[in-house]
Amino acid sequence: MRVAMIGAGYVGLVSGACLAELGHQVVCVDKDVRKVAALKMGETPIFEPGLPELIARNVGAGRLSFTSDLSDAVKGAAAVFIAVGTPSRPADGLADLSQVYGAAREVARVIDGYTLIVTKSTVPVGTGDEITRIVADVSPNAEVAVVSNPEFLREGAAIGDFMEPDRIVVGTSDPRARALMGELYAALTNKGVTLVFTERRGAEVIKYAANAFLATKITFINEIADLCEQAGADVQEVATGIGLDHRIGPKFLQPGPGYGGSCFPKDLLALLKAGHDFGVPIRSIETIISINEQRKRAMARKIIAACGGTVRGSTIAVLGLTFKADTDDMRESPAVSIITALQDAGANVRAYDPEGMVHAKSILNGVDLAADSYACAEGAAALVVLTEWNQFRSLDFARLKQALARPLIVDLRNIYKSTDMLAHGFTYVSIGRPAVGKARAE
Ligand SMILES: NC(=O)c1ccc[n+]([C@@H]2O[C@H](COP(=O)([O-])OP(=O)(O)OC[C@H]3O[C@@H](n4cnc5c(N)ncnc54)[C@H](O)[C@@H]3O)[C@@H](O)[C@H]2O)c1
Repeated sequence: MRVAMIGAGYVGLVSGACLAELGHQVVCVDKDVRKVAALKMGETPIFEPGLPELIARNVGAGRLSFTSDLSDAVKGAAAVFIAVGTPSRPADGLADLSQVYGAAREVARVIDGYTLIVTKSTVPVGTGDEITRIVADVSPNAEVAVVSNPEFLREGAAIGDFMEPDRIVVGTSDPRARALMGELYAALTNKGVTLVFTERRGAEVIKYAANAFLATKITFINEIADLCEQAGADVQEVATGIGLDHRIGPKFLQPGPGYGGSCFPKDLLALLKAGHDFGVPIRSIETIISINEQRKRAMARKIIAACGGTVRGSTIAVLGLTFKADTDDMRESPAVSIITALQDAGANVRAYDPEGMVHAKSILNGVDLAADSYACAEGAAALVVLTEWNQFRSLDFARLKQALARPLIVDLRNIYKSTDMLAHGFTYVSIGRPAVGKARAE
């Protein structure tokens, strides 16, 4: 099938490349001309494992191309995906749908023949209806079906998530659209992937409900971690013990500094606001948002406490800036709030991230960026792990200890074993587990 993918960001680029891999003829469109120029030159504008190779293979096979000319891509396409951004509106927290509606208007102007307009962006319930209205307004004779096909991929594991998803959700009641969407994903459903057909509004709600549930799981285990810490239990043992229950499941039970990223914070806020608009305030989501917000500054207080109650004038070394490992995405990363709180408390922050440094430069103020983990640690009063990058798991701890002004590690991702850290001679403070080493570093 001929496919146009509007928006070549984290979702559009991966989805476009994966659909090409499934055998479709895909044109990715982005209005960011520099992004398109880079893609045409064979560069991948985001960090996503396996993506450069996937793009190169499909460009080479003639199935994948890039343009900033939307009309070129849309004309003759059987399906036009909208995968543009839906950030929070600063004024009220509602999803800003201007990119989605803007793309829909542009698509409507050039559409020819029966076409699917497929929303891949995460959009509030009812957005499909509005897109239908926009298309009818701009192009009254256009033959379209507006379909919701939310995306569940995770950055860092995006290709695997797209190619082997837990399920594909397609929201439309149009039988012809259902048949075409079935054809589009046939290569996956033939391998046993479940395709769930719903009404359009159902699919729109599914995406927000799924993200809200996952954020709830993270927040829940974070609170249980706090309890463990006070009660002398180990949250990792607790997570294993509850996760083995099939009704609960082991995923998203890893305690940490609070959820962040480009999706959970904005999507929970949008769901909360949608609830208000429909007259059904979702109190649980309100609470989750508030707990998570408070947690980030609480993490800074935890670091300060581990440093003996003050960080004024001290250098704190931070490993990891992105909101999770295997991505360069810094959007809503807990690291930003934690670092800001440390700076507010008078610390000098030095940081290193394997892939996040470019974005960090434009987001963080007054942070000294180091070339690697050891340079980051040099002379610091504490080493703080904020992102669970694999390379931080296997550092040369003797070298690290020598570099630090005092042997204190605060690990907000629990990537080390307490016994190992003790054996290396560190004071080690983690989440939901008893601190080991000298209770308080001097
Ligand atoms: N990032 C994720 O992990 C993830 C996962 C699932 C769902 N989503 C959802 O997918 C959507 C996209 O997210 P993202 O992270 O890929 O965003 P992004 O900001 O990385 O990419 C969006 C792209 O769309 C382009 N764009 C905007 N308007 C355009 C137009 N009219 N024509 C052409 N290009 C246009 C922008 O230039 C940008 O490159 C959001 O709704 C998000 O909530 C994201």
